[in-house]
Amino acid sequence: MRKTIVAGNWKLNLGPDEGAAFAEILVQHLDEPIDCDIIVCPPYVTISAVSKVLQSSRIELGAQNAHWEEAGAFTGEVAPSMLLTIGCRWVILGHSERRQLFGETDEGVNKRLLACLSAGLSPIVCVGETLAERDGGRVQEIVLGQIDRSLAGITAEQALATTLAYEPVWAIGTGRTATPAQAEEVHAMIRQRLAQTFGEETAQQMRLQYGGSVKPDNAAELFGQENIDGGLIGGASLDAESFAAIVRAG
Ligand code: PGA
Repeated sequence: MRKTIVAGNWKLNLGPDEGAAFAEILVQHLDEPIDCDIIVCPPYVTISAVSKVLQSSRIELGAQNAHWEEAGAFTGEVAPSMLLTIGCRWVILGHSERRQLFGETDEGVNKRLLACLSAGLSPIVCVGETLAERDGGRVQEIVLGQIDRSLAGITAEQALATTLAYEPVWAIGTGRTATPAQAEEVHAMIRQRLAQTFGEETAQQMRLQYGGSVKPDNAAELFGQENIDGGLIGGASLDAESFAAIVRAG
């Protein structure tokens, strides 16, 4: 019922030349009909070069962040409309690295989300608890709190254009994946909260990705869970064969 969505987050890897060359290999690996939204999110400076390569492919482009203002004195930021003009349809918001290393807050993520939605981008909003929070029995409080604050003020229609990515911080880049049961438990809890906020029908249509050390050998089982509709892939998205295998697992 919900179309699978697999996105590769390249993080701070692959400049324009490397990114374009890698995208060409990716296109060859994914040159078959697959019923899945496939997205890659290169660094800002690489997006245009990759866009040219992906033009006639079924792989779409996303950015790793966007600011809430359209223009002005905001050094280092990029506006949602700028991303649209270089071929992005998607944008990751609130990734745990942004939250942990660059001080982003739920309130800031919310402002970015509202701006991206009104510009017409499809945002992927990331949430997830740290290991200390999980060990302290605070998963529900942390994850639902992040969702409530990050998604504050959006309409049910805007919620439908939004994808959520549950990424436990302890599973990102660590090789330590949440078990399918652990991931499903949180995804089910998230969907329940979305139903309370936006209504059951909207919640059933919204797509929820799992992220955190997804690899070809664990993707199928994770994506097979009732409330997991795909993945946000870091490390494994930088290997064309692995990323293609993960997409096929969807
Ligand atoms: P990982 O990263 O797949 O390398 O764990 C996931 C992410 O940060 O989105």
